[in-house]
Amino acid sequence: MMVDWLFKPRSPKPIDTVLDPGCGTGEFIDGILRWCKHMGLAPPSITGVESDSRHMPVLLDKYKKNRAVRVEHADFLADGHRKFDFVVGNPPYVAITSLSESEKAEYRARYATARGRFDLYLLFFEKALSSLAPGGRLVFITPEKYLYVETAGPLRNLLSHFHVEAIRFVREDTFGKLVTYPTVTVMNNAMPGPTQIVRRDNTTTTVSLPLGKDSWLPLLEGESSPNGAITLSDVCLRISCGVATGADDVFVQPMDGLDPTIRRFSYPTLAGRELTPTTVDLKNRFVMLIPYDTNCRLLPMEKLGSLGRYLMRGDIRRRLLARRCVRRKPWHAFHETPMLRDILRPKILCKDICEKPHFWVDRSGRIVPRHSIYYIVPHEPDAVDAIAGYLQSPAAQEWLTRNCQHAAKGFLRLQSRALQRLPLPDDVALAIAGKGIMRRVRSHAQQAEPSFM
Ligand SMILES: C[S@@+](CC[C@H](N)C(=O)[O-])C[C@H]1O[C@@H](n2cnc3c(N)ncnc32)[C@H](O)[C@@H]1O
Repeated sequence: MMVDWLFKPRSPKPIDTVLDPGCGTGEFIDGILRWCKHMGLAPPSITGVESDSRHMPVLLDKYKKNRAVRVEHADFLADGHRKFDFVVGNPPYVAITSLSESEKAEYRARYATARGRFDLYLLFFEKALSSLAPGGRLVFITPEKYLYVETAGPLRNLLSHFHVEAIRFVREDTFGKLVTYPTVTVMNNAMPGPTQIVRRDNTTTTVSLPLGKDSWLPLLEGESSPNGAITLSDVCLRISCGVATGADDVFVQPMDGLDPTIRRFSYPTLAGRELTPTTVDLKNRFVMLIPYDTNCRLLPMEKLGSLGRYLMRGDIRRRLLARRCVRRKPWHAFHETPMLRDILRPKILCKDICEKPHFWVDRSGRIVPRHSIYYIVPHEPDAVDAIAGYLQSPAAQEWLTRNCQHAAKGFLRLQSRALQRLPLPDDVALAIAGKGIMRRVRSHAQQAEPSFM
C-alpha cells in the first residue's frame, strides 16, 4: 500500500533512486520489487541502509543476484548527503531512554529534531527529508504522536516547509500487539500545498497545515479554537499529569499498617484505576511517601528520619539506583519533582485514558494524584465545582472527544495540552473568573504562552 502511494503520481524509471533507511530484512525493498514486477516495469536503483549486523546475512543473501538492490551496513544518521528520488520506510521507534549519553549529545548537536525527549524516528524523518532530491517523494510510517507532541515541534516546523500530500491514520493493529497508533505520511519535496487527512474511520478532509511548530491535532480533528476564547488554562494555576515517582512499588504503600513514624511524609494518593464514574468520595487506600517538602525541594537523607532509613534499606536503595530516570539526580529523587505547592489545593481529577471524559473534585486538596491521573488546579479554589460542572457538560465532553487523541478500543487520552485549550463559553468564564480575567485574557490572547507542564 505504501509503495503504491509512493509511486502514485509517477512510476519509477530504472535510473531513479529509492532509499529505505532502516531497512530491517527488506520488507519495503521486496514491496518495491513486487510492485514493479506487477506493473511490468524494470525496478529503480534501490538502496537499503541498516545498522543492525544481524540483518546483514539475510539481506546480502536475498539480494545477491539482484543488481537493482544495494544494501549498506551503516548508520543512516551518520554523515552523508546523498540525494534520492524516493524514500520509503518504517524508521526505528527508539525512545531517548534507550540511547547512550554520547549518542544523545551527538544527535542533539547535529539534528534540529533532537530536542527534549526525542525519539529516533524524528531524526530519521529529518535526515530523510534532507536526502530527498527536488521533486522527490517520501512515504513513512511512524507513530502519529509527531502530529501533536511538543517534542516533535521542530519536525512539524520542518515538514511545514514541504508539501505534505496526505496523512493517513492506519489501523491501530498494523503492528500486531504493538500498539503504536501508526500514521503514514506521504509528501514531496515541493512548496507546501493542501494535505488530505484520512482518519481511521475512513472519513477524509483537506487542510492547509500551518507553518511552524504548533500541534496539528486541532486541524486534523476539524476543530480550531475560537480566536480570543477564554480557555481552561486561563482560569487555572496548573493542568498537569499526576506525580511520577519512577518507583511506585517503593513510594506507594497501603495506608493500613503504615509505620506511624513515617506518616509525616505520607500523602493520600489515588491511581486512575481507582476512579470510576460512580466514585463520589475520593477515599484512598494507599499513600505516597514523598521525600520532598511542600516547596517542592528534595529533602536530604538526614532530614528524612524513618523514611530515610526505609529508603536506605539494601533492596530498596538498589531498586531506586537502578532507575534510569534519576541518573543525574540524587538517588532517592522522584522521576519528576512533585509540585506539592500546587497539588495540595482544591482541584479536579480525571483519568489519562478513559472511555468518556469524567471529572472528580478533590475539594480538600489532600489527594496526590498518581501518574495515571491528570489534575486541574483553578486559580480560584472556590471555582472548583463550577469548572468541574462545565467539564462534565455535554458541550465540554463533545469538544474533548473531538480534540483529544484516540487510544485503542475507542478510548480517549486526556492530555494536558488538550485540556488547556478547552474553550470556556463567556458565561462560564465570567462565573468562574469574573470580568477582570476576561479583559486580561482577551488583550493577551495573541501573545500568551501557557506556563503549564
Ligand atoms: C522499525 S524497524 C523497520 C524495519 C523494516 N523497514 C520493516 O519495516 O520491517 C527499524 C529498523 O531500523 C534499524 N535502525 C535503527 N537505527 C538505525 C540507524 N541509525 N541506521 C540504520 N538503521 C537503523 C533497525 O535495526 C531496524 O531494523
